Amino acid sequence: MGLAPFAPDNTIFKNETALRDSYRPDELLERDEELAAYQSALRPVINGAQPKNIFLYGETGVGKTLATRMVLDRLRQDQADYDHLDLHTVNLVCKSMGSSYQVAVNLVNEFRDPHEEINSTGHPASDVYNKLWTHLEELNATHCLIVLDEIDAIGSDDNLLYELPRANDNGNVESTWVGVIGISNDFTFRESLSARVTDSLCDEEIHFPPYDANQLRKILTQRSQDAFRDDVLSGDVIPLCAAQTAQKYGSARQALKRLYKAGDLARDEGADEVTEDHIRQADDLVERDKVQSELSKLPTQAKIALYGLLMLDDDGKTPAKRSKIYERYSIAAKQLGADVVSDRTIHDNLSQLTLKGFLDVNEQNEGPNGGSYYEYEFSIRPDLARDVLRHDGRTGDLWE
Ligand SMILES: Nc1ncnc2c1ncn2[C@@H]1O[C@H](COP(=O)(O)OP(=O)(O)O)[C@@H](O)[C@H]1O
Ligand SMILES: [Mg+2]
Repeated sequence: MGLAPFAPDNTIFKNETALRDSYRPDELLERDEELAAYQSALRPVINGAQPKNIFLYGETGVGKTLATRMVLDRLRQDQADYDHLDLHTVNLVCKSMGSSYQVAVNLVNEFRDPHEEINSTGHPASDVYNKLWTHLEELNATHCLIVLDEIDAIGSDDNLLYELPRANDNGNVESTWVGVIGISNDFTFRESLSARVTDSLCDEEIHFPPYDANQLRKILTQRSQDAFRDDVLSGDVIPLCAAQTAQKYGSARQALKRLYKAGDLARDEGADEVTEDHIRQADDLVERDKVQSELSKLPTQAKIALYGLLMLDDDGKTPAKRSKIYERYSIAAKQLGADVVSDRTIHDNLSQLTLKGFLDVNEQNEGPNGGSYYEYEFSIRPDLARDVLRHDGRTGDLWE
């Protein structure tokens, strides 16, 4: 059989774009407290005063980016009614920018025409900062709010997060009030910031907690009204999707992905209804994709450590102590001719894997006089880890 013809279909979806991440729903649901805190933190702007710097954090898919777009749109609209205000906003997604320098270069370019943009290498850092101050100084606005989304990408190189929020206080910019809104998906990023950065960036901190099943249900219902034709979602599809996702992530993004996938599966089958079974399959497929793409990005040493745990799991020996994992890890590393790193390094790797949600860790106590130790096990399905490690250019050799 060759290619089937492409033809529009309209049994399942009314507007599938509504299930995409970038679709803008009319309302941010279940986030009243966070929105109130956000608006309150921005109130100085509408009074013509110096803005506060705001730090927003929470896991991915909990509405941080959407809330920011909505709040800033509203602020832009409302300030237009006041003659003494002229608000400029800049929105930069820092995802692939690994340093303060790169973020600064990209910010400078936000103020320039395409043919005047500067390169991302070759300028002394102080030049880049000076260009940025000049742009802000010469901006014909009373306020400039700079959103740095996914700012955790800059890691420990956080100098810009000291300089920018202090641009007014340090006298680098005098004729425009500058406010920074930093958004982070990474919980540990806040702790890793130096004290001077925390002091300047975090005038106000707003936490976006994960959604529970009820909240996800409302969010999915809202989107499905735009996305699906009437009555194609069978009764328990949304509650099931919400419950499954809430258990693992509390992320609206993950829930929407699953619902979209389930609709796709129904369409591919030529079904006229999306069923619970479609959601179950979708959950499996989306989970597999997510885990596999994240696992395959891990450094080789972490993959070998994971292999050690996989072997223990095969032997029914999980949860396993770190020392046992290290034993298996060492054997595998030698077998591959890779460096055998220290027990301490493997411990760090295991902590990272736990943070990323691949492993669960439990603390065990060794009786009244003994100390305590940690035991690890998979929190993902071990067969997903096996698939990735087996097809990996490096760890694949362990199966030869
Ligand atoms: N409270 C909410 N109400 C409606 N849709 C939401 C809500 N929170 C998140 N979403 C949707 O979920 C997806 C992820 O939200 P986003 O703001 O990008 O998350 P984050 O920036 O925290 O990773 C988007 O498609 C967004 O429209
Ligand atoms: Mg975001």
